[in-house]
Parts: sequence; structure tokens; C-alpha cells
Amino acid sequence: MKGLILSGGKGTRLRPLTYTRAKQLVPVANKPVLFYGVEAIVAAGIRRIGVVVGETKDEIREALGDGSRFGAEFTYIEQGDPLGLAHAVLISEPFLKREPFVMYLGDNLIADGIASLVEEYRRIGCNSQILLAKVPNPEQFGVAELSDGTVIRLTEKPKEPRSNLALVGVYMFDDTIWDAVKSIRPSARNELEITDAIQWLIDHGRSVHPHVVSGWWKDTGKVEDMLEANRIILDTFLASGAEGLDEGSRVEGKVVIEPGAQIYASTIRGPAIIGAGTEIRAAFVGPYTSIGPGCRIERCEIENSIVLEGSALERIPGRIADSLIGKHVRIHPGAERPRVHRFLVSDNSEIGIL
Ligand code: G1P
Repeated sequence: MKGLILSGGKGTRLRPLTYTRAKQLVPVANKPVLFYGVEAIVAAGIRRIGVVVGETKDEIREALGDGSRFGAEFTYIEQGDPLGLAHAVLISEPFLKREPFVMYLGDNLIADGIASLVEEYRRIGCNSQILLAKVPNPEQFGVAELSDGTVIRLTEKPKEPRSNLALVGVYMFDDTIWDAVKSIRPSARNELEITDAIQWLIDHGRSVHPHVVSGWWKDTGKVEDMLEANRIILDTFLASGAEGLDEGSRVEGKVVIEPGAQIYASTIRGPAIIGAGTEIRAAFVGPYTSIGPGCRIERCEIENSIVLEGSALERIPGRIADSLIGKHVRIHPGAERPRVHRFLVSDNSEIGIL
């Protein structure tokens, strides 16, 4: 069996972060989302993985390398234009050949990985296995209708969903998928939808087995989802040693302090992670916060947030919460006079002031 991990797309819902980096490389608990997907595929015993890349190909390649650090072997597949998930499958045919494969959308996170699901697919011997999850907002996903446990219809982002079962971005296929992806036509958003290809399998009498996932699942397309994924992953951490702490500092709960981080006169209340080489001074870092490497947090309070590498937050009144702060951002009080708010923010940024 082979793997196919999709890491193209523009990530418009995560702007402005995605102006400068691929959405799959935004970190959750200080690790790019994409790495969790790769690790899940490898843990399912799959080593040969095709990585479909788009505009951000250089960055993805640099982050992932040739696969050896994951115990895998990557083949990069360039998708010239983002013409849909089924199109990504179509262009990967020379790599996948006739072998069964698992396709994993690189911005998805799934509890407990996929090893048991891949094993289930092998055991059942169906043409395709899809994963479904109950969600409160099915209109934002592909939606499945089941009858007696069988999939009867799949609709991509329906205005009036007929169930609350969303398609999770992990799919398993055998070589019957080739006829499907070659037969379907582009959707209203001008994409070849994988949802339509699976519907084609159903309409042509192929066996599509639905597995409703019981654990959590996150598609990290939006800021709220990133923060939630961050909470979920931090919760799975076990506390590690509290090195780098001075006498006036306290660590409560599950806190990971990466090598070289320095903490002075501060309280860190987990679950939280503090990146390598970061300096925290006279600050409070509250639950569900990931501070990336090389940051500086001084005389601030922050919780339920993600701060990317190299950023500095200094002497900010009030508590920062529910925030996603990019790389090399500086937030600090301005000069004394005139007493003004002074911003240099990029397109599509959002700032909430007290
Ligand atoms: C894609 C699929 C959709 C699926 C979702 C899961 O949507 O088209 O059916 O439910 O991934 O993450 P997209 O995120 O590309 O809009």
C-alpha cells in the first residue's frame, strides 16, 4: 500500500499567515500540522508516500525533505493548478500505479492516527473506505447520507445537509478509483471533487465502506480550528522536566519546555509548550498555549494562543487570549508621546484591542 499526502492549496481562511507560509506548515503544539499526517501514515506501516505540492512546493520540500527523517520515502508530485482533490489523485497515477493507497489531506488531524483504519480497510477488502465524523456544521464539508449503514449519497458542501456526517480528509482506495477520477466532470467551483469520484464508485456498484470515527478530528482550515487542534494536542502531552526555570518561576500542570528556553520570575500553567531558546520574563503563560522557538515574552499574560517562532510580546497590559501570532511579530508599547496606537500589520490581519 502507498500513501498520498496533499499539501497544496492556498489556505485563504488562514490569511495572513498563509501569505508567507503553506497552511500545512502552521504549527500545532510547535510541530507543523503536516508532520502529524506524515507520522500517522508511517505509523500505519506505509513507507512510500507521494506528496502532492502546489504553489508552496519549495517550502514544503524544505520542511519535509526526502522522507528519511520520518522513516519514509517521498516522491514529490507537482499539481500545476489547484483543480481539486480528484485531480490530485489523477496526476499521481504514475506514482501510485495500480496499488491501493491511503489519501490524507495535509491539514487534517485525527485522534489515534490511522493504523487501525488502514488495517480495517485491508481486512474488509472493499474498494474504498471513507471516514465520517459527526459535526455541528456539515455544510462546510462533504456530507454523507447512510441507509442501514451503507453510503447512499455524498454531497460536497451542501447548502441543506441531509445528515451531520462530514467526510474526514482521509480516504482509502484501490484501483477502481482510476475509472472514477477519469469519468467525473468539474463541479460548480470548477474542481474535480473526490466526493464526486466516490459517488461515482457507489453509482457503479463498487463497495464503499463508511467508518464513523469516534475520537476527535480536525480540519485546521481556520484560526478557531487551529486553536482547538492546539488544545487537543497539548492535552495529550505528558509533562516533561522543568529545566531552564529560575527560583522565582513556577510550572503547573503539563508543560513541555524545549531545550535552551529560559524562564525568569514567571508562571507557566499547562497544558503548554515553550519553544527552544525562548525567553519568558515576568510573564504568565496560561493553559493551551504554544510558544514557538526563539520568542521573547516579557511582562505579559497570554493563554489559549499560538505564537510562532521569533516573535516578541513585551509589556502588554491586559491578557492576550485566543490569538494566533505569526513569525517575527513584535507587540510592545509605543513611544511615550504621542500616546497613540501604532500598527504595521499585513493584509487580512485582525487585531482586537481592549
Ligand atoms: C475537503 C473535501 C471535503 C472534506 C474536507 C475535510 O474540503 O472536499 O469533502 O469534508 O476536505 O477536511 P476542503 O477543505 O478542500 O474545502
